[in-house]
Amino acid sequence: MLTDDLRQELRTRIAAAVTSREAAVDVMKELQRHYGWLTDEAVEEAAALLGLSTLQVEELATFYEMIYRRPVGRRVIHACDSISCWAVGGEHMMAQLARHLGIEPGETTKDGMFTLLPCCCLGNCGDGPAMMIGDTLYGRLTAEKLEEILAQEKKTL
Ligand code: FES
Repeated sequence: MLTDDLRQELRTRIAAAVTSREAAVDVMKELQRHYGWLTDEAVEEAAALLGLSTLQVEELATFYEMIYRRPVGRRVIHACDSISCWAVGGEHMMAQLARHLGIEPGETTKDGMFTLLPCCCLGNCGDGPAMMIGDTLYGRLTAEKLEEILAQEKKTL
């Protein structure tokens, strides 16, 4: 359930947008932050706040790969599997991540810490292979860097 403060904050942001649809991703991201993922309840709340139907919110939610319509770990790793990263070892990076975490891409670790998701280009092609965890973008990944980053992320959980 939303807090009154968050509901009011979202109403203010929607009012500042040119159209409510423009604010939809922002609203979905905030609700996702609140619930951990975009639950059915969150979709209904987003629809009510935005003046859209739940189907319209659902369509938007399933279009954006950083909106999660199923439970995810406390940290979601978006590992780029597009062409530029692939050309500089992206596939190897994905395999290393999967091995390190003990899961396949698309899965969540048993302790609920990490979800590993392949994703489209993160706009960091010149510094591939790239991945994103939360709002932090990482590039020029090596096996050593991956170990360090994951260890650091675990410390912040
Ligand atoms: S192809 Fe990986 S960041 Fe663009």
